[in-house]
Amino acid sequence: MKLQESMREELIRRAFGVLEYAYAPYSKFKVAAALLTKSGKIYTGCNIENAALSPGNCAERTAIFKAVSEGEKDFAAICIVNEDAQGNHDYCPPCGVCRQVMMEFCDPGEFTIILAKDEGDYQAHMLAELLPLGFGPGNLKKQTDDDLVD
Ligand code: THU
Repeated sequence: MKLQESMREELIRRAFGVLEYAYAPYSKFKVAAALLTKSGKIYTGCNIENAALSPGNCAERTAIFKAVSEGEKDFAAICIVNEDAQGNHDYCPPCGVCRQVMMEFCDPGEFTIILAKDEGDYQAHMLAELLPLGFGPGNLKKQTDDDLVD
């Protein structure tokens, strides 16, 4: 599924639109994401930190879990943006845990990850590029099929 330029710009706009909701009092590193479903819907998310640290959630997973909890599981792309304590925007690659969650729901050869500094300054990567040889549901399916043969 080729991502149209207008949709890419829309995802970048939507991600920046929710950056103000990022709850990052500890790291002061705000992250926001806009997730596009294959049916054309957009789910946004932000990072949500916690005084006990480990319960915190990344922006990408917030967006993915919002979508899954509303019945959406087929995703085409996600845009990630960030703002540091000085107000600077840089490319923000997804953490390893978020890459693994993407692997659960997305085709690594098709799912596009956009890292944007602004609407005209971005990078686009496939999940397969950011998580080579990823372990996903397909690996367990092979296992189950093999078990059935035995
Ligand atoms: N963060 C994200 O939201 N997404 C990422 O992929 C990288 C890290 C958040 C987690 C934490 O709230 C803050 O950025 C600093 O690590």
